[in-house]
Amino acid sequence: MEYSILKNGVKIPMIGFGTWIAVKEDSDIVLKAIEAGYRLIDTAAFYDNEEQIGESLQKSSVPREELFLTSKVWKTNLGYDKTIRSFERSLKNLKTDYLDLFLIHWPKNHLDTQDWIQEDQDTWRAMEMLYKAGKIRAIGLSNFYPHHMIPLLENAEIKPMVNQIEFHPGFTQKYVTDYCKENDMIVEAWSPLGRAAVLSDEVICNLAEKYGRTPAQICLRFTYQSGIVSLPKASSKIRMHQNLEIFDFEISNEDMSVIYTLPQTGWSGEHPDRRPLVDLGW
Ligand SMILES: NC(=O)c1ccc[n+]([C@@H]2O[C@H](COP(=O)([O-])OP(=O)(O)OC[C@H]3O[C@@H](n4cnc5c(N)ncnc54)[C@H](OP(=O)(O)O)[C@@H]3O)[C@@H](O)[C@H]2O)c1
Repeated sequence: MEYSILKNGVKIPMIGFGTWIAVKEDSDIVLKAIEAGYRLIDTAAFYDNEEQIGESLQKSSVPREELFLTSKVWKTNLGYDKTIRSFERSLKNLKTDYLDLFLIHWPKNHLDTQDWIQEDQDTWRAMEMLYKAGKIRAIGLSNFYPHHMIPLLENAEIKPMVNQIEFHPGFTQKYVTDYCKENDMIVEAWSPLGRAAVLSDEVICNLAEKYGRTPAQICLRFTYQSGIVSLPKASSKIRMHQNLEIFDFEISNEDMSVIYTLPQTGWSGEHPDRRPLVDLGW
């Protein structure tokens, strides 16, 4: 496994395992992913799978300190007190006493809320407090665009170390990734395979043939060469292994350009200023 280093010195694996839907399909999928070699596990309160993941972590023989566990506070739990409660609930469900990374899942609660900037700042103060108390090794954001990050960064005591966004061939959000790089934040790619939609793209398939790799490996190597952490989800051990085997070949600069300039494809349709609200019910 290759690692990157967050600005506070914490090591983060360049590939993690995405658990959204995965644990509902197979409650022990995280144990299988750890056995396959994954060390970063990406979950969220919203995925409603933290308890099963906690059980898999207990069954695993890999020590907790070798794993990099991420969770996120959902948009209906933004605000100082609710964020702390959500964090404590994630810890309890995951059966651990610290997280490696905790993220604000989306920047806005109700899309017509005028005070989302204040709500993000209150949420961030809770994250800073938990970080300073040693309960989280790194704190960050998810689905934040520059217009969401600017007011937060202006008022933050501790700057976010990560931003997790949709990123894959056909949807690279360069305006967002450039802003993150300028502000020394590591970008994590969600849906790095474009939820499989990108894997049948003709350009990606031709490159797969050229490099003697699978389309998924082309997507993940492209993300890695962009300096971005990937979080692919997969249901079989074969795919889990395949998605880790990307560190022994290199995509040329010309082909990186070909991928970066693909027309938009595989976009999930999710947007932080447009996405409807889903309440967790707690
Ligand atoms: N922060 C956020 O708002 C946010 C939003 C969405 C997702 N995420 C995170 O990102 C993770 C990944 O995103 P995602 O699940 O949406 O999409 P994804 O990882 O881009 O794609 C998963 C799809 O690709 C298929 N696949 C995986 N490996 C493959 C391979 N080697 N060959 C062919 N097909 C392959 C999977 O099929 P099988 O499962 O059948 O193998 C599944 O259909 C999530 O699990 C979650 O942790 C975060």
